[in-house]
Amino acid sequence: MRLLVCGGAGFIGSNFVRVRVRDHGDDVVVLDKLTYAGRRENLEDVEHEFVHGAIEDPRAVTEAIRGADAVVNFAAETHVDRSIAEPDAFVRTHALGTYVLLESARAARVRLLQVSTDEVYGSIAEGSFTERSPLQPSSPYSATKAGADLLVSSYCETFGLETLICRGSNNYGPYQYPEKLIPLMILNALHGDPLPVYGDGLNVRNWLYVEDFARGIGHVLEHGAPGEVYNVGGPDESTNIEVVRRIIELTGADESLIEYVTDRPGHDRRYSLGSEKVRALGWEPEVRFAEGIERTVDWYRERRDWWEPIRSGEYRAFYERQYGRALS
Ligand SMILES: NC(=O)c1ccc[n+]([C@@H]2O[C@H](COP(=O)([O-])OP(=O)(O)OC[C@H]3O[C@@H](n4cnc5c(N)ncnc54)[C@H](O)[C@@H]3O)[C@@H](O)[C@H]2O)c1
Repeated sequence: MRLLVCGGAGFIGSNFVRVRVRDHGDDVVVLDKLTYAGRRENLEDVEHEFVHGAIEDPRAVTEAIRGADAVVNFAAETHVDRSIAEPDAFVRTHALGTYVLLESARAARVRLLQVSTDEVYGSIAEGSFTERSPLQPSSPYSATKAGADLLVSSYCETFGLETLICRGSNNYGPYQYPEKLIPLMILNALHGDPLPVYGDGLNVRNWLYVEDFARGIGHVLEHGAPGEVYNVGGPDESTNIEVVRRIIELTGADESLIEYVTDRPGHDRRYSLGSEKVRALGWEPEVRFAEGIERTVDWYRERRDWWEPIRSGEYRAFYERQYGRALS
C-alpha cells in the first residue's frame, strides 16, 4: 500500500512509519512541517519519501497525496501546556489543516484515517469511555482535536469520504519529545535535575506503548469500517507519581528529586478508554507497562545522540518558561 503519512516525523508518526515499512512493506510519503517536535532524524533508519510542508497548505498536500492509497494524519500540535500558553497554532493545524487534508482526500478519492486522542472525552472518575461517550474537552489542545474529529466525521456523512478515527490513550516509548511526562522524567533523573510533578501527582493515565498504537492504527486502516471511531487504549492505568517512582528505580536516581509544582489549569484527573471495539476487530496491546517502561528507559540511556541536541536547544527555553528554573 502507498501511504501519505502527515506528521510522520514526530513521535508516534515516525514509529508508525517504521512499523508499516518494516512489517508491511508499505511505500510511505511523509508530509511534515518540521515544527520543534518534528525531526528528520526520527526517520533516518527507514526508507521513505519526504515532503517538507504543512497540512494547511493545499499545494503541499496536493503534491504529496499523488498516487497515495490512503492518508494517515498525525500532524498536530500536541502539548497541552503549550496550548494554554499559545493556542493559535493548535487552531490552525487542527481546524484548517484537517479541513485542507479532507478536501484533498475527497478530490483524490482516498481513505483518510485521523489520529486522535482520549483527551477529547475529558476526565472520567470511574469506568471507561466508549466511542459513544460525549466529547467534553478541557484544554485548547483537546478542544481543537475534538473539532477536527467532528469535521472528519462530517466528510463521511456529507460527502461519502471513507474516514476513520483512532483515539489513542497516553503513548510512551522511543522518539518522544522530552516535554512529555515520561521522557522529561527519564532525562531529568539521568541528569540529577528536579522531577517536577503537577499537583498531588494522582492524575491517572492509561499508558499505551507506541508500537502497540502504531499497529492499532494500521489495523484500523486495513479493517475498520468507514465512518467509525475506534478507541485504542493501553493495557495499564497508573498515577503520574507511580510512573515517576518507577523511573527513579530504573535510573537509580534519588527520591528527593521529586518536586511537587503548581497544577496545570484544567488538568484532567483521569482518562480511561474502553477498547472493546478495536479488540473485536482483532487488535490487542502486546506490551504491558512494566516491560514498556524498561524498554523506554533503556532507549533514552542509549540514545544520547538523539536527545542531546534537543536538550540543548529550543527545549531549554520552553522548560525555563514552564517550570521557572533552568535545566542542568
Ligand atoms: N502522544 C500521545 O500520547 C498521543 C496520544 C493519543 C493521540 N495522540 C495524537 O497522535 C498524533 C501524533 O502525536 P505525537 O505525540 O506523535 O506528536 P508530536 O508532537 O511528536 O509530532 C507531531 C508531528 O506533526 C508535525 N506537524 C505539526 N503541525 C504540522 C502541520 N501543520 N503540518 C504538517 N506537520 C505538522 C510536527 O512537525 C511533528 O512531526 C497527534 O494527532 C496527537 O493528538 C498523541
